[in-house]
Amino acid sequence: EKDGHDWFMRKEIFEQPRAVADSLLGRRSQSGLLQLDEMRLSDDEIRDIDKIIIIACGTSFYAGMVAKYAIEHWTRIPVEVELASEFRYRDPILDYSTLVVAISQSGETADTLQAIRHARTQRSKVLAICNTNGSTIPRESDAVIYTHAGPEIGVASTKGFLTQLVACYLLALYVAQVKGTRYGDEVDEVMAQLEAIPEQIETVLAGAQQIYDLAAEHVDTRSVLFLGRHAGYPVALEGALKLKELAYIHAEGFAAGELKHGPIALVEPGLPILCVVPPRGRDQLHEKMISGIQEVRARGARTICLAEEGDTKIEPYADVLIRLPRVPVLLQPLVATVPLQLFACELATVMGHDVDQPRNLAKSVTVE
Ligand code: M6R
Repeated sequence: EKDGHDWFMRKEIFEQPRAVADSLLGRRSQSGLLQLDEMRLSDDEIRDIDKIIIIACGTSFYAGMVAKYAIEHWTRIPVEVELASEFRYRDPILDYSTLVVAISQSGETADTLQAIRHARTQRSKVLAICNTNGSTIPRESDAVIYTHAGPEIGVASTKGFLTQLVACYLLALYVAQVKGTRYGDEVDEVMAQLEAIPEQIETVLAGAQQIYDLAAEHVDTRSVLFLGRHAGYPVALEGALKLKELAYIHAEGFAAGELKHGPIALVEPGLPILCVVPPRGRDQLHEKMISGIQEVRARGARTICLAEEGDTKIEPYADVLIRLPRVPVLLQPLVATVPLQLFACELATVMGHDVDQPRNLAKSVTVE
């Protein structure tokens, strides 16, 4: 049942090309327009939305952070992302024109469930992004986008996360299409980029051995930092969470621009820092990231950089270079997360931990 893999988690990591492809399947009508089967919100209801609040926990929260970049860019609707456990208890400002998006792989997370129950008492519409058909969160929501990853058994979310990202991109593009923002015209282009992702993930998986060797070098490591910017920032947080939950190593993710505001004090010779380098583009993201990497390297950090094919500027500053396929910055989390999942899975394995059942954790957290 693990298809020859030692862990469900590893099997699920390697299933991601198929999971992403399934998540994209049947989302377009013959005329090329996006259609979401269980959207159940009318075009008028969508046009009325003036604010979106995304609520989720753990890895699903990081998917929400990525979604904020995509939704705001394509729809121009302001998006807040909040941990479900915080949202519920702070008297949030909600009304009928607020769309609440709950992201949950299991559909049973108690914190997220309580948050949507509260939102509905405030007359907000709730849309669930969920992997589990018929689970409680989608049943109690006004609309749902199922992620179609297939059952996820490993406690650490992997294909659940990637397909949540796909659902978030689809939601953003759908709202742009309905609202007729100028980005609505990009639907075709972005869908083609998304449809190319499964093959690009295959390329990353084909390079797994490099990541396994890297993991083997880090068995005695006590602390690892992760840096990212823009959509790479949640990827850094996700990489750190995977390492905490599986390898029980202290790991922190930072927005690279925040380094100089405090965290750089942590850097000491030999400290491994995984850096998610944004694709080169017209903005200054790439250069800014490189200067952050130079700063930590000058203080002796060991820089392990994930950077796109063809990026030669990063080469002098990378102690280890892991190549990623070239994709637009908003979609980069779909490829950049995969090496971090492999790294945590392998490191935990060589350390002798139970990857599918990490200590103190449950697959679905049904208590608040
Ligand atoms: O089922 P959910 O997506 O609602 O679960 C949320 C978190 O409990 C979950 O993502 C957790 O952080 C995972 N163990 C991460 O790998």
